[in-house]
Amino acid sequence: MDRFNLGKQCYDLKNDGFTNAQIVDKLDLSGDRRVRELVSYYTNISNAPPIYIINQSKRLDDSVPRAVAVEEIEETDLQQFIQFGENFSEEYMRVAVLNDIHFPDHEAYALEIVLKVLHDFRPHIIQDGSDVFDFSEFSRWPQTSFDAIHQAYEETMEPYKNWRGMLHQAVPNHRAFFMPGNHDIRYLNYVIEKFPQIYYKERTNFIQDIRRTGTWWFGEKRDIITVGQLAIVHGSVAGKNPAKALWDRIGFNYQITVAGHVHRRSMYEQTGYLEDSLTGIARFKTRVAATTGCLCKQRPSYNQSHIGQNWSHGFALATVDHKTGEVIGFDNIEIDPVEWRCVFGGKVYKS
Ligand SMILES: [Fe+2]
Ligand SMILES: [Fe+2]
Repeated sequence: MDRFNLGKQCYDLKNDGFTNAQIVDKLDLSGDRRVRELVSYYTNISNAPPIYIINQSKRLDDSVPRAVAVEEIEETDLQQFIQFGENFSEEYMRVAVLNDIHFPDHEAYALEIVLKVLHDFRPHIIQDGSDVFDFSEFSRWPQTSFDAIHQAYEETMEPYKNWRGMLHQAVPNHRAFFMPGNHDIRYLNYVIEKFPQIYYKERTNFIQDIRRTGTWWFGEKRDIITVGQLAIVHGSVAGKNPAKALWDRIGFNYQITVAGHVHRRSMYEQTGYLEDSLTGIARFKTRVAATTGCLCKQRPSYNQSHIGQNWSHGFALATVDHKTGEVIGFDNIEIDPVEWRCVFGGKVYKS
């Protein structure tokens, strides 16, 4: 009998009031721990949706009316993402999480390595947009001519479009989605404050520029995207170990939570009896929170005071069981910024 059916039997017997010892006897199992593991396995699998999305918080003031055309785009992309998950025919879905590229302050050596690894890993889905743009000048600029602003916009957008082209070449059949970070929305925030009369036009233009590169746009209000039990967020938690802070905030809800924003690789995990968010039942399991390194320059043009900080370079790869949503493989890869190399699957990749 397979683990799923055995797990279901244990689960049913427990619900009927049998003790673990009685179940061990009845089903001829080897011990208490096995009953717990089987019940946990069964409930994990039966609870896991294959792919779903949570819209946890709102970033834009809802009192601001939004363009109907853009609303429709968000809905269409979201439906396509969900349908892609539902119609996915392979057993395992491979996901790449790229954070903090900060065009045009991107680190070309790091991106070259990412292309090589992804070419071999062949992700089905790439989270390619979480502080993908820098737009930091918009936090400082005084109100100036729109031509000057648009020039800065184009200088940011151009290398992003080139990057998307290279990514399509390296991974021909991937689907990408855009998970806005705090830097990505600075342009729109700037326009709405300084040039509200052209906000809708600019917002539509911004979103269309992203979508034309083959990227799904779910709106700037989404905070968590999940692929099975893998949760992807931009992140906003700092501290000595940002992954621990992330775990404390939301990480205990998902098998693996991965974030960017801090530009530093960190990992935190807890194994034990944890309360399941769906059933409220405490079960034995491991929950991992991770922050990835960045893919931008260590000393960005906009902030030289960052010299000597603890940023690292990297990105994450996950493999999700499509049927159960379980994350069966996770690598939080670090790129060596001196040798410009990383290791994945026992192979060394260099720029
Ligand atoms: Fe950020
Ligand atoms: Fe960032």
